Amino acid sequence: MEPLLTTTDRRRVVVESHLGGGEHRTLADDVLDGLTRPFKELPPKHFYDAHGAALFDRICEQPEYYPTRAERAILATRSDQIVAATGAAELVELGSGTAAKTRLLLAAMHRAGTLERYVPIDVTESMVRASADELIEEFDGLRVHGIVGDFERHLDRVPLPVPGRPRIVAFLGGTIGNFPPGSRRRFLRSLERLLGEDGYLLLGTDLVKDVAVLEAAYDDAAGVTAAFNRNVLTVVNRELDANFVPESFDHVAFFDRDREWIEMRLRAQRPQRVHVGALDLRLTFAAGEELRTEISAKFTRERIAGDLAAAGMVLRDQVVDPDGLFALNLAQRRG
Ligand code: SAH
Ligand code: TRP
Repeated sequence: MEPLLTTTDRRRVVVESHLGGGEHRTLADDVLDGLTRPFKELPPKHFYDAHGAALFDRICEQPEYYPTRAERAILATRSDQIVAATGAAELVELGSGTAAKTRLLLAAMHRAGTLERYVPIDVTESMVRASADELIEEFDGLRVHGIVGDFERHLDRVPLPVPGRPRIVAFLGGTIGNFPPGSRRRFLRSLERLLGEDGYLLLGTDLVKDVAVLEAAYDDAAGVTAAFNRNVLTVVNRELDANFVPESFDHVAFFDRDREWIEMRLRAQRPQRVHVGALDLRLTFAAGEELRTEISAKFTRERIAGDLAAAGMVLRDQVVDPDGLFALNLAQRRG
């Protein structure tokens, strides 16, 4: 399928969309595959329709959800050093969202006089467009090449690095933790082409810590994370003509100490029958049956260094925020 190309400002913003009719299929496949397994499961990318994206923004403002503030604190004090160490002219960002923290890096590149281009990729089209339009206003001379797509399927659409113009590939917010361990390493390996010879990966990882602190971050008192979790059922209802009753599922979040990850589930309050019209699929949930919607792995330095090594990279530097909650990792291809 030909990408849909739109040019907002004739020269400075290009946004390419690679999601179209095809996305329906991905959700349909994931529902068909994930909801008929012995342990029901859905991949997390379907959380982020426009409403889900707005809920995620509110999660980031909750007092219990420390990762955003901790990562911002690191970027606020270290962006100039990161830019100086990498000499970056370009910033490619995976799962860019509203690019709120990204501005700190772009500002540092601007101060250093190296800033040329920003390449965000996200599944939420409205966010890619809105952040592109805002950023060209904020940074004179900046060009934005936005990609509306799935970072698991569309990385080949990201422009290749130009030798001598080093880039930072940023993957912030701890989103790397949403991959199960094997897929995580495979994903990191798939970044090789994007990094080129002289590129750097800037990777945000949440750290292993006190269980109460971790669990509260994924079950805030205001119920925003619970609403975000249930929103995935609303997405399935709308996109695939299903009849889930989201209020009849409880939000569950717990830390698995052996695997060192937070697991998010939706638990049926009572037995339920659900019909997914677009697939002519009938599902049943027993009372108390759970559907896994996300994992969010927490890291030690050893764990992330091991994952990077397995993907052919070397951890050059790790910076932790003053409260010891979250880490930013700077890595390079080996050799
Ligand atoms: N980087 C931001 C947002 C993190 S939330 C921050 O640090 O605050 C995760 C982001 O990744 C969301 O914006 C979501 O839309 C996007 N995302 C999730 N799965 C994706 C996928 N498979 N492909 C592209 N974007 C994805
Ligand atoms: N990548 C974020 C994280 O794992 C996304 C996130 C925060 C999230 N809270 C959530 C995803 C709740 C699903 C449900 O921390």
